[in-house]
Amino acid sequence: MIVLKSEREIQAMHESGKILAGCHREIAKMIAPGVTTWEIEEFVEKYLKQAGAKPEQKGYKGYEYATCASINEEICHGYPRKTPLKSGDIVTIDMVVNHNGALADSAWTYKVGTVSEEIERLLSVTKESLYRGIEQAVIGNRIGDIGHAIQSYAEGEGFSVVRDFIGHGIGPSIHEKPEIPHYGLPHKGARLKEGMVFTIEPMINVGTYKVVRHPNGWTASTADNKYSAQYEHTIALTKNGPLILTEQ
Ligand code: MF3
Ligand code: CO
Repeated sequence: MIVLKSEREIQAMHESGKILAGCHREIAKMIAPGVTTWEIEEFVEKYLKQAGAKPEQKGYKGYEYATCASINEEICHGYPRKTPLKSGDIVTIDMVVNHNGALADSAWTYKVGTVSEEIERLLSVTKESLYRGIEQAVIGNRIGDIGHAIQSYAEGEGFSVVRDFIGHGIGPSIHEKPEIPHYGLPHKGARLKEGMVFTIEPMINVGTYKVVRHPNGWTASTADNKYSAQYEHTIALTKNGPLILTEQ
């Protein structure tokens, strides 16, 4: 069942989203060669506490950290760690903020120092694919329209779309109906309705879309060890179109 949210609920989630966006803006300033994702993890914990919010991922299904920090060929659910980032790396920081019981979820890929031209293109195509997906998130469209917009664009640019992880409804808990694949066919799937709140979070790869799981049970990497990027927003469907709750 897809639970539709009231305007008041959406407003509360927007407050969480604003805190999350502010946190990402600070992370953007921190990223540099030599910085560790463990330092970012500690910063996020402190930032959210000061904002009167909680890191919802910590303790979720046994996940132990406030952030997921996925470096280079890691697609998602990387553990924060004490290895320094180096120039040429990319790192995706993903987090879910809980403020007064309302959640928002957003991931962003940051480049460290200077990255190759191909990776610059990966980042810009991945971000653009997110916004093309959001553009389709309007009342009356279908879920397949979102995935199709993302997939046709990303594949047209020579990249691949991860299948194993998808966007999701979000409400009092991180994962709710509906499922939002980042691939698919236009005019297919459930119809989009006012009050739906979900994430769109394309993971786009340089090489194969196939994933391998790490022994830790969480982290996923690309099967060919080529780089993967991700941008994620939480959005609400309103009469006036998609409202991005986590816009920076
Ligand atoms: N933020 C993630 C998402 O985009 C959820 C992470 S699962 C966790 O769906 F266990 F790491 F929290
Ligand atoms: Co997320």
